[in-house]
Amino acid sequence: MNSSDKEEPDAEAVTSMLGFQNYWDSTYANELANYREHGHAGEVWFGADVMETVASWTKSLCTDNSQGHLVDDVLETKLERKYQLVMDKGTLDAIGLHPDGPIKRIMYWDSVSRLVESGGILVITSCNSTKDELVQEVDYYNRRRIGASQEAGTREDQTTNGDSPPFRYLDHVRSYPTFMFGGSVGSRVATVAFLRN
Ligand SMILES: C[S@@+](CC[C@H](N)C(=O)[O-])C[C@H]1O[C@@H](n2cnc3c(N)ncnc32)[C@H](O)[C@@H]1O
Repeated sequence: MNSSDKEEPDAEAVTSMLGFQNYWDSTYANELANYREHGHAGEVWFGADVMETVASWTKSLCTDNSQGHLVDDVLETKLERKYQLVMDKGTLDAIGLHPDGPIKRIMYWDSVSRLVESGGILVITSCNSTKDELVQEVDYYNRRRIGASQEAGTREDQTTNGDSPPFRYLDHVRSYPTFMFGGSVGSRVATVAFLRN
């Protein structure tokens, strides 16, 4: 193993059905049917308190809060425009649980780096990765992108400098409840904002 191998995210992570989009499609179809028939609200991932924290904390990072709604597969995005803000709550978590999770995660970062405009923000909320793990993953991705661009000897992204890291850590939510496990302090959820260079 060379030194760059050691810095790669753990490739032996747990996989599950949650890594397949068709799992989510059928889950949501069942939840909708259950809601219509029995009024059941369905699974609340992360908890309502986390949603409120993510929404208000992200709002404090932004100046413009116009809203819209669309459905897209982030790994095969059909979106051609760029956004000032991209929020992910549990999607990278789900993608990472796919049997090809490590590859899919890189596809995810490639995709979001195209979707977030220069100077824009990506906010990720995760219950599978800690804040430090997300920062480390971005660091690894940044170095991978710079390496690829230097190898190609060209600028792969015409809108930004190919030699500058795509993402930079900006801030993270500090108000989630913490707990102690094995002598370390952690929280159940992490929300981290990255600035697109
Ligand atoms: C744990 S759920 C989180 C749902 C919701 N964001 C929340 O916080 O309650 C994971 C979500 O990731 C979505 N997802 C998984 N793979 C995706 C992909 N390739 N593109 C877009 N969304 C995806 C699933 O459809 C599912 O809604």
